Amino acid sequence: MSWWDYGYQITAMGNRTVIVDNNTWNNTHIATVGRAMSSYEDEAYEIMRSLDVDYVLVVFGGVTGYSSDDINKYDRARGVEIGNKDIKLEYLEEAFTTQNWIVRIYKVKPPKNRW
Ligand SMILES: *[C@@H]1O[C@H](CO)[C@@H](O)[C@H](O)[C@H]1NC(C)=O
Ligand SMILES: *[C@@H]1O[C@H](CO)[C@@H](O)[C@H](O)[C@H]1NC(C)=O
Ligand SMILES: *[C@@H]1O[C@H](CO)[C@@H](O)[C@H](O)[C@H]1NC(C)=O
Repeated sequence: MSWWDYGYQITAMGNRTVIVDNNTWNNTHIATVGRAMSSYEDEAYEIMRSLDVDYVLVVFGGVTGYSSDDINKYDRARGVEIGNKDIKLEYLEEAFTTQNWIVRIYKVKPPKNRW
């Protein structure tokens, strides 16, 4: 699961099935992914389970100031910085992060393995 912007490239370059891409016509489906991306982790987990998500890819600009990342689509526009940076994830675990932290991939934990 990622924001729809990256779906086409993930399919083509990563050979992975995506939840939404630039050819997704179902706006409710796009909105459901947007809701998962902007919800608290426990609420997002329920949505991700319902969509059968294994991995989540986010584009993060907080280290480099890359201005078209998933959060800055909101934060750069408002000119503010997120308050809570000390985040401990319960239902997701980091799977991969690129050198400048722009692409971050998280694995969705199966129900039995989370604590
Ligand atoms: C893409 O993934 C499928 C399913 O895992 C696999 O069968 C196929 O060989 C892969 N294709 C490439 C080009 O890696
Ligand atoms: C989706 O994006 C790709 C890559 O930019 C493009 O080739 C393709 O035509 C787009 N598909 C649609 C339906 O817009
Ligand atoms: C559209 O997406 C919603 C949310 O994922 C889903 O419940 C619904 O079945 C989809 N509709 C169609 C026609 O695929």
